[in-house]
Amino acid sequence: MSALLEVTDLVVAFGDVRAVRGVSFSLSEGETLAIVGESGSGKSLSSLAVLGLLPAQARVESGEIRWAGEDVSAMSERELRALRGEQLSMIFQDPLSALNPSLTVGYQIAEMFRRRRGLRRDEARRRAVEAMTEVGIPDAARRVGAYPHEFSGGMRQRVMIAMALALEPRLLIADEPTTALDVTVQAQILRLLRHRQREGLAMVIISHDLGVVARTARSVVVMYAGQAVESGTVADVYIAPAHPYTLGLLDASPSARDSNREIRPIDGYPPDITALPTGCAFHPRCPFARERCRTEEPDLREFAPGRSSACHYAEEVLARGAAVDHAGA
Ligand SMILES: Nc1ncnc2c1ncn2[C@@H]1O[C@H](COP(=O)(O)OP(=O)(O)O)[C@@H](O)[C@H]1O
Ligand code: SF4
Ligand SMILES: [Mg+2]
Repeated sequence: MSALLEVTDLVVAFGDVRAVRGVSFSLSEGETLAIVGESGSGKSLSSLAVLGLLPAQARVESGEIRWAGEDVSAMSERELRALRGEQLSMIFQDPLSALNPSLTVGYQIAEMFRRRRGLRRDEARRRAVEAMTEVGIPDAARRVGAYPHEFSGGMRQRVMIAMALALEPRLLIADEPTTALDVTVQAQILRLLRHRQREGLAMVIISHDLGVVARTARSVVVMYAGQAVESGTVADVYIAPAHPYTLGLLDASPSARDSNREIRPIDGYPPDITALPTGCAFHPRCPFARERCRTEEPDLREFAPGRSSACHYAEEVLARGAAVDHAGA
């Protein structure tokens, strides 16, 4: 069986600056994949490219995106519209930008049922109330008439989820779905998404929070400066990271591992994509870096079945991570 979504060597560029530099990932029906990395690593652009919703100045320079085996770039505008929303939908990083502030929330959800399903106005409104109730918005019959600004951040995120799931897509791309929310609301939203996963929804969850990823995804792609630097199952990668950047993210994340090791942020900042370091883009921040790293760019290589790392010294990092774990235990 072919994958539901398959992205191969995706390159997204602004003019001659490449913001996504050859990213590949795939997932099957009902599976959840996480994409993690610091802000600016190219996570949002990678997923926007899948939906054909890149900002005007950006373009897919090369690479291939396949949906259920079909080349998305060969689809007509009509086929793409049918794909988006119906098969594949997205919760955007900035929920306010996706809602029209001058229309009631209920109207905006009902509009989807009217336009896409051809429902009559009263029936569409009934379905909107139903969709809002399903995502845990209390008193939906009344709040269907409220405007976006009358909802709290958490409720607005629920509205976004209701809209994204209204047409029962097979895949949901959730871009930082809990980032702006407090911990309690975050847990509620994750519960809601996990419930949908159990019903068979496939998901790409984008986050800089490794704790969120651990609780939702089976496999993970770690991105740095527009590239995938590590991938594998969450269980494998979290227990034994094979790239210094992943190791750094885990050490910097309070919720990712329930170990008693101290929280230590990664030194320095992500690079400016218009002036990337030579060799390995991570070398200025890497505690494992040596001379070779300044000159020779590492390829993403599969060092064990289902596990890849873009580090010259992946095996060494792997051993070090394990040694630290033993010392801490
Ligand atoms: N509209 C834009 N114009 C110019 N550069 C952009 C734009 N959007 C994103 N970028 C650049 O692309 C890089 C990746 O962006 P993005 O995919 O949004 O990162 P992430 O979602 O991982 O935080 C950023 O570092 C930014 O410099
Ligand atoms: S290739 Fe070198 S600089 Fe890059 S992550 Fe590995 S050790 Fe660090
Ligand atoms: Mg983003």
